[in-house]
Amino acid sequence: MLKNINPLWWQNGIIYQIYPRSYQDSNNDGLGDLQGIISRLEYLHWLGINAIWLSPIYPSPMKDFGYDISNYTDIDPVFGTMANFDLLLSAVHRMGMKLILDFVPNHTSDQHPWFLESRSSRDNPKRDWYIWNDPAPGGGPPNNWLSVFGGSGWEWDEHTGQYYYHGFLKEQPDLNWRNPEVQETMFNILRFWLDKGVDGFRVDVMWHMIKDAQFRDNPINPGYRAEMPTYDQLLPVYSTDQPEVLDIVFKMRRVLDEYPERVMIGEIYLPIQRLMIYYGDKNNGAHLPFNFLLLSVPWEPVKIAAAIAEYEGALPPGGWPNWVMGNHDRPRISTRVGSGQAKVAAMLLLTLRGIPTLYYGDEIGMRDVPIPFDEVQDPQGLNMPDKNLSRDPCRTPMQWNAEMNAGFSESKPWLRIDKNYTLNNVDRQKADHYSLLNLYRKLIRLRTGEPALNIGRYIQVCADDQAISYIREIEGSSRFLVVLNLSHRPYYFKTTQKTLSGRIEISTLPEMEGMITQGTIELDGDQGVVIRLDQ
Ligand code: NOJ
Repeated sequence: MLKNINPLWWQNGIIYQIYPRSYQDSNNDGLGDLQGIISRLEYLHWLGINAIWLSPIYPSPMKDFGYDISNYTDIDPVFGTMANFDLLLSAVHRMGMKLILDFVPNHTSDQHPWFLESRSSRDNPKRDWYIWNDPAPGGGPPNNWLSVFGGSGWEWDEHTGQYYYHGFLKEQPDLNWRNPEVQETMFNILRFWLDKGVDGFRVDVMWHMIKDAQFRDNPINPGYRAEMPTYDQLLPVYSTDQPEVLDIVFKMRRVLDEYPERVMIGEIYLPIQRLMIYYGDKNNGAHLPFNFLLLSVPWEPVKIAAAIAEYEGALPPGGWPNWVMGNHDRPRISTRVGSGQAKVAAMLLLTLRGIPTLYYGDEIGMRDVPIPFDEVQDPQGLNMPDKNLSRDPCRTPMQWNAEMNAGFSESKPWLRIDKNYTLNNVDRQKADHYSLLNLYRKLIRLRTGEPALNIGRYIQVCADDQAISYIREIEGSSRFLVVLNLSHRPYYFKTTQKTLSGRIEISTLPEMEGMITQGTIELDGDQGVVIRLDQ
């Protein structure tokens, strides 16, 4: 029984992630900026998304491209000014959309004034704002914790004779969230943006925020293989996902609850059962702990169906589902499943229960772009050069049109653009009825107008070695059957159930739209259909 048929904006919308550096350059310095985003809002409105999440736009030395913040309440000049931000926010709202900011609470830049103070002396009042420790008894780092970006998580500070902890780059020291002053200061930063009218936050590495109070060594990972990131040599059981982190999450949520209808999204890469804890025992945690299952599940119908069932089954009462198909840290969906399957992937993302997050450029099937070694910018790629871990390939500039630099900039872009841009770009796809972009748009529209597709029940019909099928329905209202052929071979969906007859509402092959389906449905390879079922 559906209790909630009047969903909030973050329950029935579609979130679109923009990596601001790569979206649209307005001042021709080769870097995207806020004014550029403003100039593309019409496009987003046309596409039908209702919320935009911006990767960080705050002042930063850009060692990790904005995830190393040196001032939480201003805008980096690369992206523009606070006046530009205010314009962006009001333009987004005027168009009936929402704006979600990235909040990076786990660490600051080593150039943040707080850290400069903290490292200036052992008795500085901000010393305890970061995580400082003496060397291990025999010398060397205090424990074996590793940095996600390679090497030890501890950096020696000659001046004060202690190590500080950094889960990511050494230029990203971790804040000490056990310190109440840190908590209060960060909560006031949230209020600063909420007061401006920002609609919510995507909270960076939420599960990293609290570390073991005793700093115990992490155990060895028996499943480690040489091609994996060096971080995976250990299981981060003491450096992440500590029980006390939930108190912080609940407090953060209470700050958001001081304002109406704001959303807190948690970036959390954990097994499903652990992920669910972040909803909070009374739905008092993150509204949406990001569900990254689709980023890693093998593209096989049975495994996808199992992942959906596991996720649906694990959701706590009242916990709202969400699905993510791509982001700025992971290979793009077109690269992962191949361009032939990109339309099927779009159909999957937009017909599952909950709120989908769409990564910029995925709507036109942008691919991971090979970046020559001497052009690599991402620190993860630079620090572990032999492991192909650079995230640059999925961060290349948006392909708007066939003009110079794909319409992104009139200057050389900060990352090279896919050579396919004259053929694959927004303008071209907009004009093509058969394009992936127009499919996304149709799916978004249908989903937004049909409660069955966004909040209706999910009922699996079948999953075999070729296809997955499921029903989305609101009893007494509309019902849809989705059949997705994940293989390249023709597929025959057979059912004797009369209740599965209907009319094709959307197909990856538009010429099939409007067809009546009964009994067997023949699908081409790489084809998917959304069928409106007769009642
Ligand atoms: C997760 C972000 O998504 C990633 O891009 C960043 O490098 C790390 N957190 C560190 O902030």
